[in-house]
Amino acid sequence: MPDLQEQKPLLARRSPPLGGTVCVPGDKSISHRALILGALAVGETTILGLLEADDVLKTAGAMRALGAEVQRDSSGTWRVWGRGVGGLSEPEDVLDFGNSGTGSRLVMGAVATTPITCVFTGDASLRKRPMSRVLEPLTRFGARYESREGGLLPATLVGTGRPIAISHELAVASAQVKSALLLAALNAPGRTRLVQRTLTRDHTEKMLAGFGAQILVEHAPEGGEAISLLGDAELKSCAIEVPRDPSSAAFPMVAALIVPGSKLVIPSLLLNPRRTGLIETLLEMGARISVRDRRESGGEEIGDIAVEFSELNGVDVPPERAASMIDEYPVLAVAAAFAKGKSVMHGLEELALKESDRLTCTVKALSACGVRAEATENTMIVHGRGPGGVKGDARIATEMDHRIAMAFLTLGLASERAVSVDDASMIGTSFPGFERMVRDLGGLLAVPNR
Ligand code: S3P
Repeated sequence: MPDLQEQKPLLARRSPPLGGTVCVPGDKSISHRALILGALAVGETTILGLLEADDVLKTAGAMRALGAEVQRDSSGTWRVWGRGVGGLSEPEDVLDFGNSGTGSRLVMGAVATTPITCVFTGDASLRKRPMSRVLEPLTRFGARYESREGGLLPATLVGTGRPIAISHELAVASAQVKSALLLAALNAPGRTRLVQRTLTRDHTEKMLAGFGAQILVEHAPEGGEAISLLGDAELKSCAIEVPRDPSSAAFPMVAALIVPGSKLVIPSLLLNPRRTGLIETLLEMGARISVRDRRESGGEEIGDIAVEFSELNGVDVPPERAASMIDEYPVLAVAAAFAKGKSVMHGLEELALKESDRLTCTVKALSACGVRAEATENTMIVHGRGPGGVKGDARIATEMDHRIAMAFLTLGLASERAVSVDDASMIGTSFPGFERMVRDLGGLLAVPNR
């Protein structure tokens, strides 16, 4: 059940063609990392384009509680005066990460090799998510922890004053776990070596190199990639420009594909190849998406996207693509609902462990909207109804999940009858301007009659 806060129902109705230029906010993954690495560096780090959404603001608050100075100036530039690797201090109170798996797990890594004790908690959704995937491997560095039964928050992490470098193969395909271990390794003398069989987003690796850490990424003889990082690192402060978030752009992109006559441009989007699985899949479905002016910004690839209404076909999405679009399956399922034929998505074992059980939630919500869909433990099947063929006429239980809310409001922009979500307030955890963006494009949103 949601925490005791005001729920905010919202309704989307079949809309006229959507048009315009959409500037989506800064990338969430990169925003968290910029604040955390800024706090671990020496000197002043400046961050332009930080995502000012609840999840990231919770990480900013945690960095302050751990002793870094974090400020936003009136022009929107964020500045972090770091404490240096090993320099974070014990917070006076519990660290509350709200809805944010990324913030909580990365910060666990950042404190695990410093002799301080931190208590981690979050909202009702975060308190259901597995934390042992991070806490257990952190004990290899010498940290200790106590959590609720089953590795759930609240948890107390006792950082070690005598850390040791580790050699470890990641047990789950998770960039959060990988990043937590890399952050812990920064203060562990010696060379930490991590092997990941599945290649997950690599923003931490790239940003660590930008802050001056000695990090090497190579093919691992055992398969996948080996990352080695020299501990006792000194990080130099940086100037960071956060590219726009492809996981947020996914919603207007799919909206344009399913609302007849739509045409949108999404400029300066992060196009890191480990984040572009959705674009690749939509292209395979026959989407009219073009990428223009690919360029580099702050060590990451970016480009401008043009997208227009398209007649989509069903698609088979291979398991090896899952990591590069793990947050995009609910909205891909919406695109699949408007496609001709069946779509099958494989390799989704991580999907049940997100802000909600996204596999079950997505299938239930599609069924409520009149779309046949099924799931097994790691597969989702959507029987597409073709352009304009989705009934809608449902009220969706979002289970405190921002992406379920945005995905099904997107569906409602193109379904025959309106679709409402029980709570759109969680959208603020990742995309505070979502409602305004939809309206600016011509999308019809309204507060439903209860
Ligand atoms: C993220 C990694 C992914 C993703 C999350 C952000 C990150 O989680 O779902 O929204 O910034 O590292 P996992 O690493 O648990 O797959």
